[in-house]
Amino acid sequence: MKPWIIAGEAVSPDGTRLELVEHDGEYIIKADGLPLMSTRMHHSEIELARLVCRKLKPGARVMIGGLGLGYTLRAAIELLPKQGTAVQVELVPEVIEWNRGPLAPFADHPLKDNRTELVQDDISQVIKRSKNEFDAIMLDVDNGPSPLVEERNSWLYTDHGLQSIRTALKNGGKVAIWSADDEPKFVSKMTRNGFRAEKHRVQAHNGKGGIRHIIFTGRKT
Ligand SMILES: C[S@@+](CC[C@H](N)C(=O)[O-])C[C@H]1O[C@@H](n2cnc3c(N)ncnc32)[C@H](O)[C@@H]1O
Repeated sequence: MKPWIIAGEAVSPDGTRLELVEHDGEYIIKADGLPLMSTRMHHSEIELARLVCRKLKPGARVMIGGLGLGYTLRAAIELLPKQGTAVQVELVPEVIEWNRGPLAPFADHPLKDNRTELVQDDISQVIKRSKNEFDAIMLDVDNGPSPLVEERNSWLYTDHGLQSIRTALKNGGKVAIWSADDEPKFVSKMTRNGFRAEKHRVQAHNGKGGIRHIIFTGRKT
């Protein structure tokens, strides 16, 4: 059996140890030793974009929090209308480097696409300084509202965080939030904070059966 090879290492600003490992052509990003993303399983990351980026108007501006392996970014770019822009925000500089290096071909080089605007920052900070700016915001920075990989991300799922996301969206704009598990009260929390909210169960792998993830969507009311 071929060994797993460490292709990159990083420490996030909050001290989470990230590792890029490769085995027989598959790459995995691990966070503190646990798999966060794999090139073999990314269907729900694509659905995250599909649920909120259909029927965008020309010149639409969308934002993605969390680059990972670039699949959500690629899916969003493919759905952009004319003169559309996808703003990709990523916290960890090494993740950006890996996406310019060995990970680049997996999502067909999304960082090289001229419709991509890359911002190296904390998505919460970008949301806090944005007002009526985005037609869609996609968040895949953590395992969902709880439990968290990065403690800093907890703010995003609070009432204040959800209200700031709403402020960053244009009227009628949509948010999609990825979650590994169901959070029974999260739809009502989104509703309380000014969204027409829904919960979607999506397959981790394309095909029938297997692991499912949750995507919460909300339209700014
Ligand atoms: C699960 S991965 C995203 C996967 C991505 N949807 C894809 O299609 O490959 C999570 C990413 O979010 C990044 N991240 C975590 N916290 C963040 C934050 N506060 N702001 C921006 N990026 C963050 C991590 O470094 C990691 O690259």
